[in-house]
Amino acid sequence: MRANLIAGLDIGTTKTCAVIGEVNGDPRRPGLTILGVGQSRTGGLRGDSVTNIEEMTESIRASLKEAELMAGATVDRVYAGIGGDHVRASSSMGVVAVSDEEVAADDIERVHVVARAVALPPDRELLHALPQEYRVDQQRGIKDPVGMTGVRLETEVFLVTCGSTAAANIRRAVNRAGYRVQELVLEPLAGARAVLTEDEKEVGVCMVEIGASTTDIAAYYEGKIRYVVVLPVGGMTLTTDLVRGLSIPYAEAQRAKERYAAAYTQLVDPRETIELPGPSPNQKRAVARELIAHIVEQRMDELFGIVQRELQDQQLLDRLGAGIVITGGSAALPGTVELAQQIFAAPVRYGVPREGLGGLADSVALPKFSIAAGLALWGADRFAETGEGASTLASGVLTKLGTWLKEFF
Ligand SMILES: Nc1ncnc2c1ncn2[C@@H]1O[C@H](COP(=O)(O)OP(=O)(O)OP(=O)(O)O)[C@@H](O)[C@H]1O
Ligand SMILES: [Mg+2]
Repeated sequence: MRANLIAGLDIGTTKTCAVIGEVNGDPRRPGLTILGVGQSRTGGLRGDSVTNIEEMTESIRASLKEAELMAGATVDRVYAGIGGDHVRASSSMGVVAVSDEEVAADDIERVHVVARAVALPPDRELLHALPQEYRVDQQRGIKDPVGMTGVRLETEVFLVTCGSTAAANIRRAVNRAGYRVQELVLEPLAGARAVLTEDEKEVGVCMVEIGASTTDIAAYYEGKIRYVVVLPVGGMTLTTDLVRGLSIPYAEAQRAKERYAAAYTQLVDPRETIELPGPSPNQKRAVARELIAHIVEQRMDELFGIVQRELQDQQLLDRLGAGIVITGGSAALPGTVELAQQIFAAPVRYGVPREGLGGLADSVALPKFSIAAGLALWGADRFAETGEGASTLASGVLTKLGTWLKEFF
């Protein structure tokens, strides 16, 4: 019998993806036994805005049903990802007087309330308030201050807010699909949970998750999250570049990109040609694979340039000892790591969800599943902390009993 099931739900621009796992292992950094993965094409979403809630609901339902079928179990709630350029992150400080001589759990709760108490306009909501460190009197960099002697307790929290409409739309679509949002999680944070190691976060690392219409960035050093941003660029622009550069329809360009493109021209044999549709129907023409790679490389070069400037503006470039970890659907392009190495002049690796995952872990070991797997891992962390947030078999049985009772009377 399965217990403590956690589901992650990533609603991307092109695909909606659900991952179901069972919590296991070390309570401090719990793992997941992957039981099911489901994927469907996202409908009803254009950029950040929902154009058709019914279509979006259908995508959510389809991906979760597929994951449930594979898992042989049902879930009633999900950890859903949220991203987009309406997201803002900042640090906030809180200070309180220690009520007794020693810091108690109670003081920590109070200092969090103070640090979180920022005025939010009605169109924004608080997504996360992540404690970064504590200070007791003059001593800084404390991870757990309980039991320390002092008079003044300070905390620094990383606050993430998002637009209320975007959050409401996700909750509404998930509810219509027959599930409940347990927590909305910022996509870059979920991705980082799946692909970065604790050591890398300590030494300094930046995750770059390249999707279809967005690129998520999350940078860490000294074990703390320092910067997150969702940039409005991604793999879709590569496709439109190929549409323009090769005068072919969008669907053909997408296929050519996913089959033959590379982000680093040097990797491609200059003599190799591929067949693409010609100017009139039933006509074919030969195109050098190098040309496709060249078009794609130019745009990827620009994209990494934007990331680099972003990191420079935040004074993060010199702090990333462990370099860059690249993931997201577009990271499947061969040569992405090679190009990034050249641009960042830093260690670069390719990231897929793997660490802490067991069971059918192979089925999520692809860069396009980083966010969905990270959402499920985020849920596992929450469950280890609070004992809450998992779908229980009992509730499944209860709903079935409810339906039976309704049918009976
Ligand atoms: N083998 C491949 N080579 C190149 N690009 C690929 C490959 N496979 C997928 N992609 C591209 O990856 C993108 C989809 O990535 P992903 O699934 O991470 O995006 P998404 O989550 O739907 O979108 P977003 O996160 O931007 O909202 C598409 O642009 C797709 O063309
Ligand atoms: Mg995505």
